Amino acid sequence: MVILVTGATGLIGCELVKKIHEKNHTVHYLTTSKTKIVNQPHYKGFYWNPSQGKIDENCIYGVDVIIHLAGANIAKRWTSAYKQVIIESRTLSGDLLFNLVKKVPNQVKQIISASGTAIYPESFTVMYDENTTEKEDSFLSHVVQKWEASVNPFRVLGIKVCTLRTGIVLANHGGALPEMVKPIKAGLGAVMGSGKQMQSWIHINDLVALYVYALEHQWEGVYNAVSPNPVNNQQLTKAIAFVLHKPLWLPAVPQFVMKLLLGEMSYLLFSSKYLSAQKALDAGFQFQHPEIKEAIAHLYA
Ligand SMILES: NC(=O)c1ccc[n+]([C@@H]2O[C@H](COP(=O)([O-])OP(=O)(O)OC[C@H]3O[C@@H](n4cnc5c(N)ncnc54)[C@H](OP(=O)(O)O)[C@@H]3O)[C@@H](O)[C@H]2O)c1
Repeated sequence: MVILVTGATGLIGCELVKKIHEKNHTVHYLTTSKTKIVNQPHYKGFYWNPSQGKIDENCIYGVDVIIHLAGANIAKRWTSAYKQVIIESRTLSGDLLFNLVKKVPNQVKQIISASGTAIYPESFTVMYDENTTEKEDSFLSHVVQKWEASVNPFRVLGIKVCTLRTGIVLANHGGALPEMVKPIKAGLGAVMGSGKQMQSWIHINDLVALYVYALEHQWEGVYNAVSPNPVNNQQLTKAIAFVLHKPLWLPAVPQFVMKLLLGEMSYLLFSSKYLSAQKALDAGFQFQHPEIKEAIAHLYA
């Protein structure tokens, strides 16, 4: 099989490409950076620039499935200009892929797109699943809604659309976890606010396995990409401290302090997303790292 991956050079993409290669599939990938283009037998890079509407059309030849991960990093200060970049890097890229598949003869059968959990309502106690129609009214929720709306049109071309609403991805070489680990390692770790905000998370190995499972089983529709055991911020902070054998002695960091430091982006630390993994489980997916302490120990011990 030939799989076209966008965002293949990022945290999730790099691990996903390894997993796809283990399964003996070929990867074509789109990158905005010409210096990241390589041309190997099973790993071929192609240039695109969604903000300028540019794409190397050769990327689509022979492709069976598209995996769309590209998007500007959300963990940078949310100025109004950068907010636009966060949105457009997802919507214009989706539009560009759609227009390419519409225009050029191809054999694409499925697109699997990354998506986010911000779309769900804030919740401390009620677990939400994919059938939830209520949506949070926040910047990031609007990003997710526009992002999903940009891939849904593939359906009119007879292509299956699957969106993986992904929780906090736990990896030891990027994303949120190393940022949480740093102060705890230095003996300066602390819970954020009340610590009660729920954090639906997933180990990176489970996430890339889920992508491969979604393509092997031709999933269609929305799936939460979260572990079956979400924890709150206090439990997550304590689990990291436990694995690293570090004490937690500082008082909790008040929300207003982080808001002063990070602005609106402090949302990422305090929003509470309590999500179900039942749909993926019912579809037969088995998590290798469903428990938070084991998952962190696997990454850091
Ligand atoms: N990591 C998480 O915890 C998490 C959680 C939920 C959802 N997600 C979503 O999953 C996707 C992949 O996440 P990740 O952690 O692997 O992200 P990442 O490490 O930041 O990588 C994203 C990739 O997107 C491409 N990109 C960056 N800015 C772009 C732009 N302006 N236009 C087009 N492409 C751009 C880059 O590839 P090139 O430089 O090769 O172009 C980059 O390697 C993202 O959309 C992210 O929002 C991640």
